[in-house]
Amino acid sequence: MRRSPNAVRPHRSADQADAFRTLFRQQSDRLWNADRDVDWAGGSQIPDERRAAWLRMMNVFHGLEVMGLETIQVMMSQATHQVRDPALNLYLAAQCQDEARHVYVLDRYLTEVDGHGFISKPEKFLIERFSGMSSWGFYRVENWLTSTLFSENFAALFLQQALDLEDVDPLAKQIFRLILRDEVRHVNFLHTILPELIERLPATGRIYVWQSQLLLAGAMALGLRRIKGDVAALGIDVDAYKATLLENLGVQFKDAGLDSFLRIDTYAKVINAAT
Ligand SMILES: [Fe+2]
Ligand SMILES: [Fe+2]
Repeated sequence: MRRSPNAVRPHRSADQADAFRTLFRQQSDRLWNADRDVDWAGGSQIPDERRAAWLRMMNVFHGLEVMGLETIQVMMSQATHQVRDPALNLYLAAQCQDEARHVYVLDRYLTEVDGHGFISKPEKFLIERFSGMSSWGFYRVENWLTSTLFSENFAALFLQQALDLEDVDPLAKQIFRLILRDEVRHVNFLHTILPELIERLPATGRIYVWQSQLLLAGAMALGLRRIKGDVAALGIDVDAYKATLLENLGVQFKDAGLDSFLRIDTYAKVINAAT
């Protein structure tokens, strides 16, 4: 059993603790309810010719949220211990609740449209792999948070692009808008925590995290390759999606002070080679 972070040491950084508390308050202020804030009675509209592709995407998305929830639950106390800041626990509990709501709302959506099970074994395997890799081995807190920056960007871009599609189920669009509201805050949190965390990493740690991130990006890209046809069938341009993702990641790495060791051009090579 681990000791409570309160018993370990006082706050490492009062500013950072304040930032965690501010994010915690923002979550409470913008909290939505998956049953009440979605107009479920309005029903869903999925064009027949796109139904299979759409449901595969939604199953993958749901699978990623399930894994994200599982990983945050495993990593919460480890991260709090590493940073030695009880205010981090406060914020992560809120983010954990967000992820639980994402799982719940997508599960309810798939149930309402009778869309569960449109996912193959390799896709399931890759999703499990991704989450296992992001919370295993050395420097796992740094690895988890860095991989989260990647996956949150990946998801946020998918949500934004899906919202722009004309044909997408209006019921799903309502859900996407609500989820996106949370994911933007999750990215803000990473910008708060990552710079200091990475600054304290020794050179070997940076190399280790860098190698792990490349493997993770590779696994994610293999997943993208599997659903490439479905994504295209929905009207999303995969190449444009990849280009925007890399562009966004490049900016995010810079903002979070990670660009000195997470080289975006290598990411681009891995992602382009796998897809
Ligand atoms: Fe989520
Ligand atoms: Fe998230």
